Amino acid sequence: MALTLGIETSCDETSVALVENGRHVLANVIHSQVDLHREFGGVVPELAARDHLERLPHLLDLAFEQAGASPDDVGLIAVTRGPGLAGCLLVGVGVAEGLGAAWSRPVSGVNHLWGHIYAAMLTRPELEPPLLGLVVSGAHSDLVRMPEHGRFEVIGRTRDDAAGEAFDKAARMLGLGYPGGPALDRLARSGNPDRRRLPRPSLAGLEYSFSGLKTALLYRLRDLGEDITDQDRADLAAAFEQSVVESLLEKLDQCLPTRGEVARRTGGRIQEVVICGGVAANTLLRRRAAEVVSGRARLTMPPPELCTDNAAMIAAAAWPPPSVGRSAAPEAQPGGGNHSPIHVDPSLGWS
Ligand code: KG4
Ligand code: ZN
Repeated sequence: MALTLGIETSCDETSVALVENGRHVLANVIHSQVDLHREFGGVVPELAARDHLERLPHLLDLAFEQAGASPDDVGLIAVTRGPGLAGCLLVGVGVAEGLGAAWSRPVSGVNHLWGHIYAAMLTRPELEPPLLGLVVSGAHSDLVRMPEHGRFEVIGRTRDDAAGEAFDKAARMLGLGYPGGPALDRLARSGNPDRRRLPRPSLAGLEYSFSGLKTALLYRLRDLGEDITDQDRADLAAAFEQSVVESLLEKLDQCLPTRGEVARRTGGRIQEVVICGGVAANTLLRRRAAEVVSGRARLTMPPPELCTDNAAMIAAAAWPPPSVGRSAAPEAQPGGGNHSPIHVDPSLGWS
């Protein structure tokens, strides 16, 4: 068996995966630290790092058990090297390098953002670039062109808050606590956006901005004051969600074929569209995206458990190892012995 062992510890999910030929998930175990951070209303980096370290040994055992595999079956170890929380990344990379040395296997440092895109290739193993990606997570709202494996060009991004960050802050304002995005998604299902409309942020070009929308929500909540009802909250959640989703899809729409000028910016005809990252788990975004892309390109949205952080996508992004051919993971090192360490970069961008 040619298995890739994936390790993801960039933020508040500890995950270990075993993936066959970079595309078939045999195990993808994920431990969410939500309960650990809830009382603080957000991720506490020190606690997160320590918890990753404590959980990893057990999660490794679980992954091998679920896959029915042993370390002998592993040909490559892939670990997130950034972006993310420095202490958390160091835990994953330290463990990966330790295993690489012990098992004499190469270790590959993977860009977490690339990983989100490669989650789509776990969903459809035959999917190949060129493609257009909309990566919407807690820290990013990026429109990227991927002309070939290992190459990404950012063509649009947010000026201020990322979509996930906006959902999390709005959820806090609505009294939903942490983690905000999924809670807001659930509340919005019982709301009517037309009863409490919020502005749809709209900038020229392919830029996003969500901070004005956040302020609009704050003012609405202030106007309602103590008299706010549960239905008002649900209506506002639905209105907020609708504004974010419409804004995200408006720019994607401009990139798709038959839209003239802006479509050309994506370098010709786009046939494959990938929407991924934690926010791609959102119910309304999934439904609306299918409508917008339908008949114009092929849309791949990973299932919700592959949209949020997981190690299978990290394993997928590292495949195949450089010795096999194209390199999606330029810093892969020969394991065991004197290989140079993986360079951890908490603020890593797309390149
Ligand atoms: O990709 P991800 O798991 O971690 C990062 O790389 O940031 O994304 C996490 C973000 C959080 O902001 C979370 O609130 C948001 O994704 N999110 C959602 C949903 N599920 C997760 N936002 C809206 N609706 C959801 N169902
Ligand atoms: Zn992520």
